[in-house]
Amino acid sequence: MRQITIGEFTMNVAEAGSGSPLVLVHGFPLDHSMWQGQIDGLASQFRVIAPDLRGFGQSKSKDDVVTMAQFADDIAALLDAMEVSEPITYCGLSMGGYIGWQFIERHRDRVAKLIQCDTKAKADTDEARATRLKAADHVLEHGPETLITTMMPKLFADANRSSQPDIVEATRQVMMNTAPSAIAAAQRGMAQRPDVTNELSKIDVPTLILVGEHDAISPPDEMRDIAAAIPGAQFVQIDGAGHMAPLEDPQAVNNAMLAFLS
Ligand code: MLT
Repeated sequence: MRQITIGEFTMNVAEAGSGSPLVLVHGFPLDHSMWQGQIDGLASQFRVIAPDLRGFGQSKSKDDVVTMAQFADDIAALLDAMEVSEPITYCGLSMGGYIGWQFIERHRDRVAKLIQCDTKAKADTDEARATRLKAADHVLEHGPETLITTMMPKLFADANRSSQPDIVEATRQVMMNTAPSAIAAAQRGMAQRPDVTNELSKIDVPTLILVGEHDAISPPDEMRDIAAAIPGAQFVQIDGAGHMAPLEDPQAVNNAMLAFLS
């Protein structure tokens, strides 16, 4: 792991391998460790860079709200600090995908290819936004247990929840160890995120849209629509996986990424 100072905070980053840069951006409320299967499986061919976003994992920072644009700008600043000037493959999951839409809009020259996993293009509905803002206040007052209890059943395909208890427990532990202030700040940032549906047709880099067959948060039909709206985008469904497809079936996800990237 490397510690890299970005403005007012220090970003914790896993880095492995050499070659074209592949930046893996985690979901909410997680850290870089959700990508371990990709770090292990892809570092023989790529320079894999997997940061802990501002406030998450070991990237300690206290903010009241962090927008998806701010997270995207942090990644650009990280690449500057790491002297990565070659255009990257940006790969994000869920919240990492919301950040991806902002990254390509704000830092187009830095992007060679885009992989968006288990994410959405739409903004929150009014109801979802209100629930998020309530959850943010609740986490600050009472800690993350309620949020974790609500989220856990939606993260993994049912069969994988029973057959892979280790990844389920590791994910729960990461969530338990996430600072309540980071959870609240990201919830508030996600509540503000724009609807990018009408921007998808402007994406002009090779794009892979990847989704777990049983994703209960960003279902395959919704992701198929995203792929259809992006010129030339490829769509891959990971059979048997849920929202955390890269963690549930790293081999299938790595194969899909390698087929797209090569
Ligand atoms: C995630 O996995 O990053 C979250 O489900 C995103 C969200 O809360 O919308």
